[in-house]
Amino acid sequence: MASSVDKQRENQREQKKCLRLLLFPLPFQGHLSPMLQLANVLYSRGFSITIIHTCFNSPNPSNNPHFTFHSIPDGLSKSESSRADNIVALVSLLNTNCADPFRDCLTKLLSDVSEEPVACLISDSTWKFTDAITESLQLPRFVLRTNNVSSFLALAALPLLQEKGYLPIQESQVEAPVLELPPLKVKDIPAFKTPDQETLYQTIAGLVKQTNSCSGTIWNSFEELEHEPLTVLRHDFPVPVFPLGPLHKYFPVPSSSLLAQDQSSILWLDKQAPKSVIYVSFGSVANIEGAEFLEIAWGLANSQQPFLWVVRPGSVNGSEWLEALPNEFLEEISGRGHIVKWAPQQEVLAHPATGGFWTHNGWNSTLESICEAVPMICHPCFGDQRVNARYVSDVWRIGVHLENRLDRMEIARAVRKLLVEAEGQEIRERAVHLQKMADQCIREGGSSFQSLENLISLILSAPLA
Ligand code: UDX
Repeated sequence: MASSVDKQRENQREQKKCLRLLLFPLPFQGHLSPMLQLANVLYSRGFSITIIHTCFNSPNPSNNPHFTFHSIPDGLSKSESSRADNIVALVSLLNTNCADPFRDCLTKLLSDVSEEPVACLISDSTWKFTDAITESLQLPRFVLRTNNVSSFLALAALPLLQEKGYLPIQESQVEAPVLELPPLKVKDIPAFKTPDQETLYQTIAGLVKQTNSCSGTIWNSFEELEHEPLTVLRHDFPVPVFPLGPLHKYFPVPSSSLLAQDQSSILWLDKQAPKSVIYVSFGSVANIEGAEFLEIAWGLANSQQPFLWVVRPGSVNGSEWLEALPNEFLEEISGRGHIVKWAPQQEVLAHPATGGFWTHNGWNSTLESICEAVPMICHPCFGDQRVNARYVSDVWRIGVHLENRLDRMEIARAVRKLLVEAEGQEIRERAVHLQKMADQCIREGGSSFQSLENLISLILSAPLA
């Protein structure tokens, strides 16, 4: 005989067949991927999915033919959309330009009686206008935060840190502890390069405040990983919290990579010894200086370990791609190093030859590394990456932190520590432990699985717009 839980599930399934969810990602790789992963998870649970997206960095609809896609004009000129060097300005411009087109699109979708009724909007947390627009249309709004809980709490604390004199950051204070946010040091406070810091702080404070007016926050993280920050979050922000991560591990989903992934990375890894390779990538946004580029190159060469290095075109200031690398370097690393423009990162991390990941600690990269039990070398560049790196090295203890200015000797030492020395083995054992928790939490009975059930129940209980 079917239990009452089974009947309840059956009921939910029936209701969901008739409901549509609208998802609105921010058009950057680190935001688009988790939103599309979430869309696939919710689709697998019976909802119809519509993705509203900008023309800039638009996802490829043919990768997800089971979704409906609606593009809205973003008003970016060609030169504006190539200004990835000032991500803060670009996000602000998108927020200014997209509000009206988004309202028009949403109004149209809500009045379309030929489609299933819309249950809610799931918006990236960085779209600041979605709060007022959904409120005026009486549509429930959930927020996906693509960074983790610890870094969100650090962002939320910026006004307090300003008041206490930690900001603006003084060079002489960078090693001092932030007493209000252990284990962070002053240099870990999320900072972004922008000429107008005051406006940025106000924008962040506004977005943090909007957290209190949404129907719930969704996180690509999991209870066992961030139990303490989640406890603080639940106390400080009285809206339902849904840690559903790791979203990319529920089942394989089509890649949402905006750049072509070079498959030669895998063919090259196939020829390397198990756990021998350091994989190096600084994500989709961060840029480095020419001098740093050379330190990285010689650090990798001097480590004497095989390496797979992603150098995203345009990511080295003043260079197109690899032209700054001297011939002696290329001769020195011949056969031992493989350099690509963009890699199939998840496959690389899951490859048996990959022994370590030198990362900028973007949250997706950090979580992907945790899920494959790959120990990290942390070199955060900006924003939440600094908090993530501190948690990787000091809380979860699954990586070594390159804390100072990039130096070839220090880099070579860090690579060897991770891949060759006993300390690296201990780090790897802790990483394997964390990987097991990440695996279990999305299975039936696991914390993220239960959180997903709770989210679905809440969506189903909300009145339709
Ligand atoms: C940005 C911010 O930098 C980061 O701090 C924030 O947490 C999310 O937004 P990004 O630089 O894109 O992130 O880094 P990350 O979050 O790590 O996302 C990068 C994504 O690109 C990952 O999913 C990774 O698998 C993918 N990637 C990266 C590739 O597919 N190929 C590559 O060669 C490099």
